[in-house]
Amino acid sequence: MTMRPTGNMPETAPTQSGDAVEIADGVHWIGALDSALRSFDMILRTANGTTYNAYAVRGAHGVAVIDTVKAEFSGDFFRRLESIADYDEIRFIVLNHLEPDHTGALPELMRRAPNARLIISKRAPAMLKALLKPPGDDNFDYDVADTGDEISLGDRTLGFLHTPFLHWPDTQCSYLVEEQILFSGDVFGCHYCDDRLFNDRVGDFRFSFDYYYAHIMRPFKPHVLDALKLIEPLPLKLIAPTHGPILRDRPRRYVARYRELSTSGDCFEPGAEHRSLIVFYLSAYGSTARMAEAVCAGAESVPGVRVSLYDLEGGEIDPFVDLIEAADALAFGSPTVNGDAVKPVWDLLSSLAVVSLRGKIGAAFGSFGWSGEAVPMIEDRMRGLKMRVPVPGLRVKLIPTDDELAQARDFGSRLALAMTGGGHSPDARGGDAARGERVIDFADLK
Ligand code: FEO
Repeated sequence: MTMRPTGNMPETAPTQSGDAVEIADGVHWIGALDSALRSFDMILRTANGTTYNAYAVRGAHGVAVIDTVKAEFSGDFFRRLESIADYDEIRFIVLNHLEPDHTGALPELMRRAPNARLIISKRAPAMLKALLKPPGDDNFDYDVADTGDEISLGDRTLGFLHTPFLHWPDTQCSYLVEEQILFSGDVFGCHYCDDRLFNDRVGDFRFSFDYYYAHIMRPFKPHVLDALKLIEPLPLKLIAPTHGPILRDRPRRYVARYRELSTSGDCFEPGAEHRSLIVFYLSAYGSTARMAEAVCAGAESVPGVRVSLYDLEGGEIDPFVDLIEAADALAFGSPTVNGDAVKPVWDLLSSLAVVSLRGKIGAAFGSFGWSGEAVPMIEDRMRGLKMRVPVPGLRVKLIPTDDELAQARDFGSRLALAMTGGGHSPDARGGDAARGERVIDFADLK
């Protein structure tokens, strides 16, 4: 349901009028409202829908269109665009992000405005080709933009900021110099549908803003911090994201919130001088619990490693996700039940898509009755999450003996040595891991 005004009437109610909405002199919102959406990309709940924000900037020498909308909403987009510009006036189509919720109307816009020049980020060409799938040789042209590049509409200038991995490799922001407007793509966006459009007029969307960050931007915190270095020095009158409210009232609050959310994980870290190992376990008859305690004792014997032990039977998933994001290594202890690890282990392992795990160290151990599949299954899952598993899993049949508990202590100390560089595979969090980069499967474009 689209939110309706409860107090002062909005300046414009786009769902009712279908008109473009002027957000600054000669700058219009030409997007679409999707109030019925309840799930986005299968991972985000959208309790009051979302918006697909697109914009048009008019200058003395023509019009620039910035992003489009999801294909099903093309009619709204074109109707709003046509209310403020003719197609032959469009000189540029700027695409800050190529995900289909912002490029659904692109092929038709290119057909209607054949003289417009496409502007994409320098990491976007391969994705653009995958998106448009031109038959035979390329039948479209484009320019790539990098930080510092500009395009001119005569009396107006659009500059570009290269801000990759927010949240796809192709992402960039654009900046209207004269009006001090940042067109930020998904950055500073949220799934919140309210036809009053502006942050000083819509309902309370703070939860949606943080929720969106947690699910979309959080895995890419190092890239967020890189982008903030470009954004924070800019004079900002308004932030125009591709989803949710347009941020015209104190836009810097949202920039500051991104910095806070991107650095707040520091409070969980045990200190730069320590590496953090978290041991999770479940235990039906106490055997895997005894192994977990022995693993912890062995790991703690290695200087520079701080160990935390948690029984998954007594924990909530969300706080554990925060801990895991800040940890250097994880160990899971699970008995084998009916040829499988137990459900709380899978619940936690399936909740980690919002954090970057690449390069973290993983390990598995557990007691079993007769088959013991849980340990290798957990190891396979951790490898699938791009974690490294340098110490082979430890399995004990039924009740661990003193010798087997000694093996568990040795398992823990070898795990800790791998974390500190004292064992094999010393690089716990290097390269792309520290950047939080992820591989995007272009074939999965919807
Ligand atoms: Fe809103 Fe990443 O598309």
